[in-house]
Amino acid sequence: MNKPRLYSGMQPSADSLQVGNYIGALMQWRELQQSYEAFFSVVDLHALTQPNDPAELREKTRRTAAQYIAAGIEPSKSTLYVQSHVPAHAELAWVLSTVTGFGEAGRMTQFKDKSQRYGSDATSVGLFTYPVLMAADILLYQTDIVPVGDDQKQHVELTRDLAERFNARFGTTFQVPMPVIQQDTARIYDLQNPTAKMSKSAESDAGVLWLLDDPAVSAKKIMRAVTDSDGTVRYDRENKPGVSNLLVIFAALTGRQIPAIEDEFAGRGYGDFKKALAEVVTEEFGPVRARALEMLDDPAELDRVLAVNAAKAAEVADATLADVYDKVGLLRRV
Ligand code: TRP
Repeated sequence: MNKPRLYSGMQPSADSLQVGNYIGALMQWRELQQSYEAFFSVVDLHALTQPNDPAELREKTRRTAAQYIAAGIEPSKSTLYVQSHVPAHAELAWVLSTVTGFGEAGRMTQFKDKSQRYGSDATSVGLFTYPVLMAADILLYQTDIVPVGDDQKQHVELTRDLAERFNARFGTTFQVPMPVIQQDTARIYDLQNPTAKMSKSAESDAGVLWLLDDPAVSAKKIMRAVTDSDGTVRYDRENKPGVSNLLVIFAALTGRQIPAIEDEFAGRGYGDFKKALAEVVTEEFGPVRARALEMLDDPAELDRVLAVNAAKAAEVADATLADVYDKVGLLRRV
């Protein structure tokens, strides 16, 4: 029996992932890889749409891959690889760009936000076609489901539209994928600014819990997290965003329900609650951090694992690309 296929990816945009990536993505991926044939990529080609120091980008790519593995993505079970190692991604993106409307791509809200922020001269064509490359990532693997945050939902909708359009024009070629959007209880906010999403590119470091932070540093950040003057450990996103965020992190990392945690800390202060959360975070991240750092000590071995997985990925991707080239009428190379 073939398992349904799953595809997801993350940009190598920081040296360390943060607790939001861990809870929102990695914990789910780790679970889903049991029941799906899963492909996880480090999307380094997408990262080129932002300015990068070349040596740093290489390092971030390795670090991101090491953290996937340390967090429990098993490279012998799931196909975990670096996007640029499989040339079919860039090749399919070109073909898909020829069936994507200019206006259609221009309606992507992430592009609109970013291009408005940077101005048109600082906005690259690569940023404009970013969602088309993402569609290629997904469609190459005949993907059934795509777990993503809600900021990526529109890109998966575009992917579906492109797959349906291509299939209608050239005959069935692509599986039409379904987005699986992360739940609100998997959404993590900045510790200092708990109405803004916790982000790898946050302005201040104090609000971000990094997977690779020293446990003492994480504990300090938790103790200093913004709360409120109400004093009760209670979930209320609207009026108590700081405490609610800490409760969500606590619940996600322990697998407990929020009401049970509220009960445990009823009548106790925020200090007690934060101390307990710091312990939870240290216990969960300690081994992940140790394992990731150990792998980064042996980059040759990590590169070998990534090469093996890129070869596995290419087998699937190349078959889809060959079919696409054939369907659109490119002359077969003999
Ligand atoms: N654009 C996604 C993000 O920024 C990353 C990504 C690239 C991705 N290709 C993908 C996610 C394919 C899911 C599937 O989060």
